[in-house]
Amino acid sequence: MSIDDKIAKLEQMNAEAESAGGADRIDKQHRAGKLTARERILKLLDEDTFMEIDKFVTHQCTDFGVDKILGDGVITGYGKINNRLVYVFAQDFTVFGGSLSGSYGAKICKIMDLAMKNGAPVIGLNDSGGARIQEGVVSLAGYGEIFNRNVLASGVIPQISAIMGPCAGGAVYSPSITDFIVMVDRTSYMFITGPEVIKTVTGEEVTQEKLGGSSTHGSISGVSHFSASSDEKALELIRELLNYIPQNNLQDPPVVACKDDPNRLEERLRTIIPDDPTKPYDMKELLRLVLDDRYFLEVHADYAKNIIVGFGRLAGFSVGIVANQPLFLAGCLDIKASIKAARFVRFCDSFNIPLVTFVDVPGFMPGTEQEYGGIITHGAKLLYAFAEATVPKITVIARKAYGGAYDVMASKHIRADLNFSYPSGEVAVMGPEGAVKIIFRKQIKESQDPKREQAELVAEYKNKFANPYRAAELGYIDEVIDPLYTRPKLIIALDSLRNKRESLPPKKHGNIPL
Ligand code: HXC
Repeated sequence: MSIDDKIAKLEQMNAEAESAGGADRIDKQHRAGKLTARERILKLLDEDTFMEIDKFVTHQCTDFGVDKILGDGVITGYGKINNRLVYVFAQDFTVFGGSLSGSYGAKICKIMDLAMKNGAPVIGLNDSGGARIQEGVVSLAGYGEIFNRNVLASGVIPQISAIMGPCAGGAVYSPSITDFIVMVDRTSYMFITGPEVIKTVTGEEVTQEKLGGSSTHGSISGVSHFSASSDEKALELIRELLNYIPQNNLQDPPVVACKDDPNRLEERLRTIIPDDPTKPYDMKELLRLVLDDRYFLEVHADYAKNIIVGFGRLAGFSVGIVANQPLFLAGCLDIKASIKAARFVRFCDSFNIPLVTFVDVPGFMPGTEQEYGGIITHGAKLLYAFAEATVPKITVIARKAYGGAYDVMASKHIRADLNFSYPSGEVAVMGPEGAVKIIFRKQIKESQDPKREQAELVAEYKNKFANPYRAAELGYIDEVIDPLYTRPKLIIALDSLRNKRESLPPKKHGNIPL
């Protein structure tokens, strides 16, 4: 065979691999509003950077006479995002419904191993019916190998998953171990088992959308961190997210040139917090006034809205933001908020992203629903996560910092580095009304005019405790700051902590209250 013939054969095999499940299935994918696996990879990566690996791998299954298709339903390789190396796999729904065979699993494992050796993120674009039924246990073994690598890579390299089609069984467990999940509205679903099986087993009737659509997982279960309106938007979001994250746990996040004045002062910061402590305000407005270019990339935007987490920049440096949101449940910490924030704090700590915490918290959410759900254990997760974190930790008390929630929200006592408070800060065991009713119950009851007596005691309590000065007197607050200067103060504080070195006592790992 001449070299020309050999090259022609190679080109023909390449074309065959690229035609995937065939024109009809590709059409069906497009008609459903979805890109193909190959189109997704090309959109995700910088132009002309994709290098494919294992294009000619086929499955080894000899049962059921299944056809061999070059590539076997998953495209794997590496390329660049914003000129930084990433490893990527994209499951191809046009080939056996994107289901996972032994060979397909091995392809994913190969790029995960390369990513670990070279310290680069792995991005998985998922569109798969789970274990390839014809392969039986070989497929389950394939998943097991991937799960194992997901766990070993956790906290070493960033792992990001997009869910871009109906994903079931093993196809959802692996993403759930990764750091972030992005779902596409109306075309992606995640469930351990689909509506058909549910109906057979429990009799419950439910649609795919209600069971595992992006709004279900974005707002009810919290399984997904971001929702995108299309495949293209999901891929753009992943590109953006990576800008805040380092390549691996031994590097710092990328720094960008900052055009926004580090000394920008915002008058609005002086008036945003209402005088009346029972009145809410939008903490996100406050965050935007402080961050570079007034831009905040929110994570888990529709889940546990009483706490806000996400990424921003200060003078070009990436920061992780955690902030109570007085607009929802008065900013209380409940089970979902604690879990959401704890996971985010641990992500930032794993990847050297400093934490900036804004506090306005009236306490933990009381009541049987929360107690029966285990708020004690779940609330402790956030405490544990903040206390365990060794990245720079800066805290701003904006208003309320009551009770246990004061300790939890990156207080001095759990080794926050720099703690600020606005003059509107109220650091106390609880709010004035509740406190007075408990400690002066007898006095109020026996008074000639209980109402007046209570009002006077509340005023006295407020005067004594509803301010940041007792905490500042004790050094629990490093500085009480005029809100106008929040941005420059944070930028200078962050700069001072740039070389922070802190380590935890040697141990195998801690036992976070899961
Ligand atoms: C082999 C599969 C498959 C699978 C789909 N296909 N899932 N082939 N193994 N798991 C094939 C179909 O036969 C079909 O082939 C093509 O892919 C497209 O599937 P459709 O059903 O036509 O598509 P759609 O109607 O969009 O439904 C998608 C779906 C559904 C919701 C994903 O296919 C489905 O429910 N699949 C099974 C899901 C599941 O239970 N998987 C096993 C999970 S157990 P043709 O040739 O007709 O185009 C698991 C264990 C791992 O994953 C556990 C690890 C802990």
